[in-house]
Amino acid sequence: MVDLLLGLQWGDEGKGKIVDVLTKDYDIIARFQGGPNAGHTLIFDGNKHVLHTIPSGIFHDKALNIVGNGVVIDPVIFKNEIDNLSNYNIDFKTKLLISRKAHIILPTHRLLDAASETLKGKAKIGSTLKGIGPTYMDKTGRNGLRIGDLELDNWKEKYSALAKKHLNMLDFYNVDLEFNLKELEEEFFKAIDLLKSLTFIDSEEYFNQAMLDGKTILAEGAQGSLLDIDFGTYPFVTSSNTTAAGACTGLGVAPNKIGEVYGIFKAYTTRVGSGPFPTELFDEDGKAMAKVGNEFGATTGRPRRCGWLDLIALKYAVQINGVTQLIMMKGDVLSGFDTLKVCTTYKYKGKEISHLPYNIEEENIEVVYTKLTGWKEDLTGLTKANELPKNLNDYIAHIEEFVGVPIKIVSVGPDRKQTIIM
Ligand code: IMP
Repeated sequence: MVDLLLGLQWGDEGKGKIVDVLTKDYDIIARFQGGPNAGHTLIFDGNKHVLHTIPSGIFHDKALNIVGNGVVIDPVIFKNEIDNLSNYNIDFKTKLLISRKAHIILPTHRLLDAASETLKGKAKIGSTLKGIGPTYMDKTGRNGLRIGDLELDNWKEKYSALAKKHLNMLDFYNVDLEFNLKELEEEFFKAIDLLKSLTFIDSEEYFNQAMLDGKTILAEGAQGSLLDIDFGTYPFVTSSNTTAAGACTGLGVAPNKIGEVYGIFKAYTTRVGSGPFPTELFDEDGKAMAKVGNEFGATTGRPRRCGWLDLIALKYAVQINGVTQLIMMKGDVLSGFDTLKVCTTYKYKGKEISHLPYNIEEENIEVVYTKLTGWKEDLTGLTKANELPKNLNDYIAHIEEFVGVPIKIVSVGPDRKQTIIM
């Protein structure tokens, strides 16, 4: 079976930490969608690491790490990630396997991303500008360059044809962009050389054989359900299916092979980039969450927007993904608030509704909150479930009752050790 770990909000829920915590129970950790737009942060032994494309099981001796077919890989960022891990004595050739069917982000994909965002002006998505959208466009447009192509003699011709197409598109967009293609290509080809020294696999075959051999697999989602290309707050979304079904197409495993679905969420809500966010706060409470929670993007460094927990959105994500267990992150950040609010109803065009409607733009949605009493205790030193303050237990019980799924792990700080099994 393949277990899934998925973000239920707009990303940045803390997936990297939890994959790292859960890895000891799995033989294989696999990424199935997204690419270097992700930033999965792991903190242990006083060190902090941010991974973008490499699965978060890379620091464990036993686990194999696989980049699945649904992922888009930027060779330059990938090489940087590997270079940054040089102190760890990791044998990447045997511990990090890459699907031949994963698509490659070209330097010109990144330029197209920048041009597209510039053209959108005020309506921009707030993309991480890593070339994600243009690369998935080339994938579905059937023009993309794949990892397996690097094993062909004529891959450079394929590359050149695609890059030329992109340059023509950039001419057409006619946006002021400064770039030095020669430099970008030098860096790209150097990184491709490193990529070619790694192991490429037919990953769908690999996963299915691994399951027959009784291996345990954890699929590590990137971004969050509300950024899903189909079910997120379109068009302010990323270009892949971040939800459970994306793991089937992004790895090549059948739906009936999916086991546990761990849904991870923050005790409040954050969002980076543009787009609707009904429970967003612009007051001192929001500022306190941002400050205490250190809410800055792991990939772009941008400040994250903060707000109360939205149970309507959470329930929607639980439903779409078939979540079987919840993991609540950053409960410690809410210590000290007298009153906590959770959104339990939307007023949509004046009528009370209890689901996420087609359009959650500000002009249509008014948020109705339920108030709960906060807790004062510092949670960061707690290690056992029976040590949690009563008001936090009430907060947890309220969420569980609303969405109908139990919270099995509560995280009370960024370190591996600050994890409470309920
Ligand atoms: P893109 O995927 O880089 O094109 O970005 C599209 C939207 O998704 C933007 O609002 C980004 O801020 C957001 N986004 C992409 N990746 C992440 C992530 O890993 N965490 C949080 N937000 C993300």
